[in-house]
Amino acid sequence: MQENNSKMSCKVPLCKADIGEEELNAVREVLASGWLTHGPKNKEFEEAFASYIGVKHAVSLNSCTAALFLALKAHNITGEVILPSFTFSASANAVVTAGAVPRFADIDEETYMLDPKSVEALITPKTEAIMVVHFGGQAGPIKELKELADKHKLLFIEDSAEAIGAEYKGEKTGSFGVGCFSFFPTKNMTTGEGGMLTTNDKKIAETVALLSAHGIPKSVNPPHVGYRSAVMPGYNFRLSNILAALGTVQLKKLDAMNEKRRVAAAKYNNLLSAIPGVVTPVEKLGRKHVYQMYTVRVAKEKRNKFILKLKDAGIEVSVHFNPPVHLQDYYKEKYPTNLPVTEKIAEEIVTLPMYPDIREEDIAYVCDIIRENIA
Ligand SMILES: Cc1ncc(COP(=O)(O)O)c(C=O)c1O
Repeated sequence: MQENNSKMSCKVPLCKADIGEEELNAVREVLASGWLTHGPKNKEFEEAFASYIGVKHAVSLNSCTAALFLALKAHNITGEVILPSFTFSASANAVVTAGAVPRFADIDEETYMLDPKSVEALITPKTEAIMVVHFGGQAGPIKELKELADKHKLLFIEDSAEAIGAEYKGEKTGSFGVGCFSFFPTKNMTTGEGGMLTTNDKKIAETVALLSAHGIPKSVNPPHVGYRSAVMPGYNFRLSNILAALGTVQLKKLDAMNEKRRVAAAKYNNLLSAIPGVVTPVEKLGRKHVYQMYTVRVAKEKRNKFILKLKDAGIEVSVHFNPPVHLQDYYKEKYPTNLPVTEKIAEEIVTLPMYPDIREEDIAYVCDIIRENIA
């Protein structure tokens, strides 16, 4: 999701990053140290993140888009990648820019995530990867998708941009395949811009780190001062030392921030369940939801009026995602697809304000406005 977080004039913003003294101090310290680019804070952040997710390696990057792109590049994926269309365009853009072919599968009507049956129907000898998108803070159907990936020897990529700290049967998303995370300000934790790739494969982690920094390894015995020799054509997708310091502090607060999101979601659920015509999110058994977004559904004929009424009342709302990727200009021309569930959900979904410090009275206010305007 790409909302800018600066529109604070409204009564209830859509999202608000939780940045306090600790973050300010961490950034100040790095600025004062003079080490501004990729440096020691990256190592600290990566080690803490890998340990939090429960994987062997984490590579810090400047976005989740870079993580998705490099996940594909490092695994030499150039064939077909099955993914949902009900996602932010970055998921599909990474596939195309990496030189692979997106195949869009349909979603489940309850969770808005990949329907394993639709995925299975798309598997051909050309398929090389399945990319699950953990929508809005909840894990997708990992067991079913992992089984398909294992059976057909496909790479399993988890676009976990929207689900940092979410769990599937007690284990974190991003630990089941190659994990890709976003630290954009609307996400569960932030570095302003930033991302992380997680893997248990040391060689892949090394290749991703290399690709993210011009393809130039750190020479152990350089023949002269300033010697830099690229071993592969790389990019500059590094996260700065400044942002890594910010991320390290945010990661320490992540569980507490996610818990606040869960409490806020329970309050919304409680108030909205009494209002006919509003479909609230479902937390599936064994899948800990961390509510990066709180999305509801209303009848498609009512949605635009509903959104305008909330906006008039000073409530910032959004839509994730419409149009779905397969109906966006570039994709509808190049990869025409028919996805009935995705298209239905995209016309009904609305994202309500959600952030760790949203106040109880703000949630009550949003729900009051909804009650008055749903008819
Ligand atoms: C599902 C999904 N994938 C990828 C991204 C891209 O993340 P970033 O902005 O860090 O590149 C986003 C962010 O909006 C997202 O929601």
